[in-house]
Amino acid sequence: MRVLGIESSCDETGIAIYDTVHGLLAHHVHSQVAMHAAFGGVVPELASRDHIHRVIALTELALKDSDCSLSDIDAIAVTEGPGLGGALLVGNAVGAALGFATSKPVIGIHHLEGHLLSPLLADPAPKFPFIALLVSGGHTQLMQVEQVGQYRLLGETVDDAAGEAFDKTASLLGLGYPGGPALSRLATTGNATQFKLPRPMIHSGDLDFSFSGLKTAVVTLVKKLGELDDRAKCDIAASFEAAIVDVLVTKSVAALDQSGHKSLVVAGGVGANQRLRQSLVLALAARGATAYFPPLHLCTDNGAMIAFAGALRLTALSEASQPSVSANGAFRVRPRWPLAGI
Ligand code: KG4
Ligand code: ZN
Repeated sequence: MRVLGIESSCDETGIAIYDTVHGLLAHHVHSQVAMHAAFGGVVPELASRDHIHRVIALTELALKDSDCSLSDIDAIAVTEGPGLGGALLVGNAVGAALGFATSKPVIGIHHLEGHLLSPLLADPAPKFPFIALLVSGGHTQLMQVEQVGQYRLLGETVDDAAGEAFDKTASLLGLGYPGGPALSRLATTGNATQFKLPRPMIHSGDLDFSFSGLKTAVVTLVKKLGELDDRAKCDIAASFEAAIVDVLVTKSVAALDQSGHKSLVVAGGVGANQRLRQSLVLALAARGATAYFPPLHLCTDNGAMIAFAGALRLTALSEASQPSVSANGAFRVRPRWPLAGI
């Protein structure tokens, strides 16, 4: 089965073609980061307009790359939510139109399910069941994953997401938007023990997270220090990163201990963070458990994870339990959509 994947939930237009026999045939992402950087964050209206410009051209490119025509595609998978309403409408309108024109099924995919299943595209791939740590710009969640489509929420952030905390701290250090990757680059040359920052909720006894207090602690520290030289910036970045990674690792380990599962899958943009990766690998190895990560280029938003999740759903699930498979050109988007509810 060959699935065309369309991702347009936020500030990346991602198009990919996944073949259940031959794997990923094509994969293109256009990032709007440079366009939004001037505003310090994503401007939803600009995001929707840019998706309109990119989505058809990238689809044509993906078809050309994989030597396919539309008639070689068996199904279309498109991010139905959660995300920005206008941005989602673009991908879904194109997906529905392609499905209607070619009489192929269109399946709506939950964006986080795409992230969550993306480590299965890596080699070696994890086996079900596993615990998933979803760490993106908008979400921080621990999920118990029994099978494709069977997700139980174990804990989540009560305020900021991990990626949001990275971005806000990076902005305090004058690193621009999105700051996560830039902050973690700075952190590599910083001293992580220079500043003592809080590890919010690390001993809360549950699997929830909170990061807004950590961000406030950095604000207070920056005010206290006044003018920041390069050394201070690197040390703040390293101390912040160590605090956030400590919390993510502690809670992930607790989720594994509570569930008895031996595999942890890490997904979402913050999953690209090297300190998080190394700390998880070490902490899990000590308990005979294994951490799995998506390939680095599939950590942030992309169409490959959507095509892949669509292929898994279409092959693994009975028709009754599939989400909106549309045959008549109708579509909907779900800007707010809890993953545990699918
Ligand atoms: O999953 P994603 O691409 O988009 C959302 O669905 O939110 O995640 C983007 C987030 C941003 O907050 C970005 O700063 C963060 O992932 N991020 C990182 C790194 N690379 C991306 N955070 C920390 N370290 C990184 N290397
Ligand atoms: Zn994402």
